[in-house]
Amino acid sequence: MSSLRADITSHPPTVIRGSEIISALSFALDLTEGQAPGHSVQSCMTGMRLAAQINLPPDARAALYYALLLKDAGCSSNASKLFHIIQADEIRAKGDVKDKDWTRVAWDSVRYAVDHVATGKPFLERMRTLIQVAANHRADSHVLVKIRCERGSSIARRMGFPESAAMAIHCLDEHWDGGGYPDGLRGEQIPLLSRIMNLAQTLAVFWNTYGPATAIEVIEKRAGKWFDPDLVKAAKSLAHTGALWSGLKSENLLSEVGALEPRDSHLLVNEEMLDNVCLAFAEVIDAKSPFTYRHSNGVAQAAVGIAGQLGMPAEEINLIRRAALLHDIGKLSVPNTILEKPDKLTESEWQVVRKHPYYTLEILSRIPGFADLSDIAAAHHEKLDGSGYFRHWGAEQLTMPARILAVADVYDALAARRPYRDALPLEAVWNLMHKDAPRALDAECLEALEASHSVPGTASLAALAGLHRINVPANDSSHPPSSAPVQIDSSDTTCAPDAVRT
Ligand SMILES: [Fe+2]
Ligand SMILES: [Fe+2]
Repeated sequence: MSSLRADITSHPPTVIRGSEIISALSFALDLTEGQAPGHSVQSCMTGMRLAAQINLPPDARAALYYALLLKDAGCSSNASKLFHIIQADEIRAKGDVKDKDWTRVAWDSVRYAVDHVATGKPFLERMRTLIQVAANHRADSHVLVKIRCERGSSIARRMGFPESAAMAIHCLDEHWDGGGYPDGLRGEQIPLLSRIMNLAQTLAVFWNTYGPATAIEVIEKRAGKWFDPDLVKAAKSLAHTGALWSGLKSENLLSEVGALEPRDSHLLVNEEMLDNVCLAFAEVIDAKSPFTYRHSNGVAQAAVGIAGQLGMPAEEINLIRRAALLHDIGKLSVPNTILEKPDKLTESEWQVVRKHPYYTLEILSRIPGFADLSDIAAAHHEKLDGSGYFRHWGAEQLTMPARILAVADVYDALAARRPYRDALPLEAVWNLMHKDAPRALDAECLEALEASHSVPGTASLAALAGLHRINVPANDSSHPPSSAPVQIDSSDTTCAPDAVRT
């Protein structure tokens, strides 16, 4: 074990800039919102230029910067609800709605509904769902936006951002004419930061899809309806000089957006804030599906238990805990049609699932000092015999932290209820996992996990390491009840992929 431990050579620097970590993690929010990679960062750049143009005071600019990067932090929490409403791929639906004027029923909104509701379902079922969606459109939109803005603002508060940033996220979808959600605020009742953010995200979407001329045309059309007319004037003036779009196509968006953080209020992330950010993003990840809403925290708790049993030093346990909290961040790319499918997945659906650790690596490796953490997190589906995914790593490449995470991940998935089966009793979990150790799973880690269950005070070990389970209230509408779970016979199956979608 000690040689495996020695593979960990670098750790996050003691000081990371807040902009570096939050802007990198915002790429995960783009994934689940169906937006092009970099959308949140581009919205932030556009919004900060608008803020400079209207001479927004420095304190407000600092709050705006992080509110823009985290504007979609609540987007995963309504994914399941949206999937249940439209009975189709909710990521595609979210991505395509961004350039529609959903406040008025016109040909393009009808076309949108036909393209995104109950696609692939039999004709009668599709018609029934379309009629339901049309009838409940306003009420459902209100609920979906409310879930998203409440969760988004609560995540910003959890990370320690000021109330003005949290409220800016809360009111992101309010419209100047009172036709927005969740509270139908109008005009200057809407926080100025939210008005800037809504305009900035719309500019970013249309600039990205149709180019600058169309982006300006759209905001002109919606001035006084969606947007504050004075802000639209400021945007047009900036667009006229070209300053509004500067750097949006850059290869290095992260350094472009980093340069726009207000100079006097650079946020430096200490260890405590780093933990808060990891916990907050674990909440974003787990909110995607009712079946995984405690998964990241559960994996972190199991991994910390194993590492503690193995006598690992506190610094390494911290690294493992953070990797565990973020290991499934790439899963935000997987639509709920797959995450909540009660039947076996098709090969093409498995291809989508197998990509999620790749996205985990893509997102986490953008953060300075996160090289080890991203490798550990992205290896959570690798197996010692090379049969895992996505890099098909084997025993030689898998460090002890990676082995710990793989064992903790399988354990938590088996011990939790899934769309395709009930939660398994502990004895069945051990039986299944022993069938895969030591061939695929590390036997020493598995023994340590079992031992951690029999040691009184394991929970307090997790608490000492900074773990806090985030409980979602039973009546949370973003986590609807599932259909009846499918039982599996645990006596004759191993941790085969369809038994463990982790
Ligand atoms: Fe997982
Ligand atoms: Fe996973």
